[in-house]
Amino acid sequence: MTPLDPSTLQAIDRAAALLARARHTVVLAGAGMSKESGIPTFRGDGGLWTVNGEPPLNQYETFAADPRRWWERRLEEAVQPSEFASAIDTAQPNAGHLALAELERIGAVSHLITQNIDDLHRRAGQTSITEIHGNRHWMRCVSCGMRWPKAEFIIDAAELPPRCPQAGCGGIVKSDTVMFGEPIPPEALERCARETRRADCFMTIGTSAVVYPAAGYPIDATRRGVPLIEINPEETPLTPLAVVVVRASSGEALPALIDRLRAHREGSTTAP
Ligand code: APR
Repeated sequence: MTPLDPSTLQAIDRAAALLARARHTVVLAGAGMSKESGIPTFRGDGGLWTVNGEPPLNQYETFAADPRRWWERRLEEAVQPSEFASAIDTAQPNAGHLALAELERIGAVSHLITQNIDDLHRRAGQTSITEIHGNRHWMRCVSCGMRWPKAEFIIDAAELPPRCPQAGCGGIVKSDTVMFGEPIPPEALERCARETRRADCFMTIGTSAVVYPAAGYPIDATRRGVPLIEINPEETPLTPLAVVVVRASSGEALPALIDRLRAHREGSTTAP
């Protein structure tokens, strides 16, 4: 890994100064955080959709129109998982995930809103977290919102679509992953809005910030004068709103951020 250049180190130091002063920092994470775990991003350089084109945006409409057929296709695909699915299922948390969990542990990050469905933040030790696009390893009832770990939910291929076992429900059960066009569970939206209202510092990491409502939370925070830190090798629509821009990968920037934050907390440096 090439050493970070002086201007990036200075940006990291300024980000550390903001975190050191803040009482409630909220983070919005995107697919860029998992790139160093071998999971391709969707957009940007080499992204899955940059290369293969965008997927259909009416996935949920297709599911709702014929959930049985959707499930039959899912079970067929499970026999020969896609390259993306295999990348997710073999991925391990990277230095960025571990450093972000450490920032929570030392009280520098209060809540993480992640758009990633790969479970790597939790496996790295993050606990205060909203998975706004769901989690690939869980199932969810579309009626009552009840969730189960995938490993604990038995699917009978003769009884598709699977139904919710909750008394009085019987709703259709699908993967917890939120599809394009699918309503995001209200409790997830409420938690994101509540944490954003409490934020006195906001940091985006590895997101192109083009998908809503996720991309709206950092914007809402900046409208209240909350300082925004952006960690991303590439520019995004939020770059003009950021007071600090760290043009680096999350796996490089976040461990360096912890070092500088410790220095600020020990008072052994003044913010440039
Ligand atoms: N470290 C940090 N950021 C990185 C890295 C890295 N090593 N590599 C790439 N990036 C940045 C890219 O520059 C890009 O801005 O990560 C971002 C990835 O953007 P997207 O692929 O659009 O991912 P994301 O922002 O999470 O997409 C949001 O769109 O398709 C939906 O549901 C999907 O949750 C996803 C949502």
